[in-house]
Amino acid sequence: MAREFTSVGVVGLGTMGAGIVEVFARNGIDVVAVEISAAALERGRATLTGSTDRAVAKGKLAEADRDALLARVDFQVGLDALHSVDLVIEAVPEHLDLKQRIFAELDRVCKPEAILATNTSSLSVTEISVATTRPNQVIGIHFFNPAPVMKLVEVIRTVVTSPGVVADVEALCDRLGKVDVTINDRAGFIANALLFGYLNHAVSIFEARYATREDIDAAMKLGCGLPMGPLALMDLIGLDTAYEILDTMYRRGGRDRRHAPVPLIKQMVTAGLLGRKSGRGFYTYERPGSPKVVPDEHTPVATGAALADGTRAIAKVGVVGSGTMATGIIEVFAKAGYEVISVTRGAEKSAKVCEAVKTSLNKGVVRGKLSEEDRDAALGRVTWSATLEHVADVDLVIEAVVEELSVKKALFASLDEICKPGVVLATTTSSLPVIDVAMATQRPADVIGLHFFNPAPIMPLVEIVQTIRTSAETTATARAVCAALGKTGVVCGDRSGFIVNALLFPYLNDAVKMLEASYSTADDIDYAMKLGCGYPMGPFELLDVVGLDVSLAIQRELYLELREPGFAPAPLLEHLVTAGYLGRKSGRGFRDHTNR
Ligand SMILES: NC(=O)c1ccc[n+]([C@@H]2O[C@H](COP(=O)([O-])OP(=O)(O)OC[C@H]3O[C@@H](n4cnc5c(N)ncnc54)[C@H](O)[C@@H]3O)[C@@H](O)[C@H]2O)c1
Repeated sequence: MAREFTSVGVVGLGTMGAGIVEVFARNGIDVVAVEISAAALERGRATLTGSTDRAVAKGKLAEADRDALLARVDFQVGLDALHSVDLVIEAVPEHLDLKQRIFAELDRVCKPEAILATNTSSLSVTEISVATTRPNQVIGIHFFNPAPVMKLVEVIRTVVTSPGVVADVEALCDRLGKVDVTINDRAGFIANALLFGYLNHAVSIFEARYATREDIDAAMKLGCGLPMGPLALMDLIGLDTAYEILDTMYRRGGRDRRHAPVPLIKQMVTAGLLGRKSGRGFYTYERPGSPKVVPDEHTPVATGAALADGTRAIAKVGVVGSGTMATGIIEVFAKAGYEVISVTRGAEKSAKVCEAVKTSLNKGVVRGKLSEEDRDAALGRVTWSATLEHVADVDLVIEAVVEELSVKKALFASLDEICKPGVVLATTTSSLPVIDVAMATQRPADVIGLHFFNPAPIMPLVEIVQTIRTSAETTATARAVCAALGKTGVVCGDRSGFIVNALLFPYLNDAVKMLEASYSTADDIDYAMKLGCGYPMGPFELLDVVGLDVSLAIQRELYLELREPGFAPAPLLEHLVTAGYLGRKSGRGFRDHTNR
């Protein structure tokens, strides 16, 4: 029989603590909520009432239930109020000495059988536990932000945590409607160990002015389906907390440079820009604690004045190539009203591409997303050709041929000879330097990357890759074209992986390394990222879909260009590819797909 928890204590009512109080009180458990001062207590109370009021307004909580919930919470200053609770969860700032002091005090105040838990994200639960005389009753219960919403709880057992305590806490998580993964005490556990390298990398890209905050966040949301962009997430976590987590992970996790906090984070913390909780971080919020972003001096102005900034008018578009991307891109432009010339290397290939575009448009008709007239009009706008010279009078050329530099360079040299002046020449490359193809022409200022995502008709994102030779007019034109296509164009520099792949693949590679180190299972790692961070797929699910060979190739490129030791491809990934386990397409990757 699992232990019955009738009353719990929560210490620290900040970003996490206030949410944890809500989780317990919502599930009928009495809570003693403790803060360090009356002012902090009032802040915590306001956070809780604000959150429950919002739940009532959204119809997710009845008013009577909210009142009952709030009545279960006893707000107190000082730890002495915790003398008779069955379990305490500590959620004070991420400092080891502070947490050790609090645990020594809790040990003195709490009844002998009480379980003492920490919500630490990165500190050693073992080191915290030895500040008490009952380390076998100390455990990590790591909630995710926002605690009332996120389903995951990481339960961290140390080498001395008693198995009975682990079982009781697991049963409690179940009662709270949470999914738990139980793991050993290692810096960052599962989710943060995979998340924080990515977040820090995103800040470094921003710090280097490689892309704007809006574009970095939009890229990860729209390119990977993440619920938030990395900089918005840093603001939600709190920059002070994020700094401490990174710093601890750097020191505890083998001094991986990717966890060394980017200097900008420390500067922002020192300047009081802590994120949502202080009203300003990477973004500016309506007021401290508010989730509502308000415009500030960095907010881009909407460019309603088309053509004013040198944007070139685009009516006719050439698409060169006959693969998946070319096919999707032809459809996107034709549907958006552009006149399209598709150029392939032969009549047979043209017929195939034409058939593929027709099939895809027909699917749209069957699904009720496109009328038959619109389908016919879109098809009527496309000319099918096997002669490159037919792009002579287009306004924009999109190259989507095989991912080989020599082929692309030769093509761009030909385009340079064929196309009229002022044409924008775009490559869809996902891994080659755009500057290499630009320099194959005499007009590098007109060359840009337009990195569409697969499937192009569905994915809303386009990365607009400007080289150091791309002109402002070319970039402005690319932006305007993306907007006219109904896509979000994010502008970035010409660096391996652009925004999305550079931030995504090292995280996937880290997940493989975690599996390889036997810290956790593929299932638990997938759960942790889906339920703890709201990712649409876990890393192993995604790797199997993308293809392990493709992922390995991208990771190798990143490693070769950036020379970051932490980007070295995981040996397990190399071995699986060598063994022919490429993911869904080969029937087996991290999982066996033959019987699914
Ligand atoms: N922010 C996140 O996204 C997140 C997610 C999971 C876990 N965590 C972890 O949760 C813990 C709390 O982080 P946070 O982001 O909520 O921090 P926070 O700064 O938002 O809140 C900390 C609270 O602790 C209070 N406090 C400080 N000293 C105290 C004391 N002696 N007694 C009682 N209260 C005291 C502060 O007044 C403050 O309200 C950290 O260990 C953090 O790593 C954070």
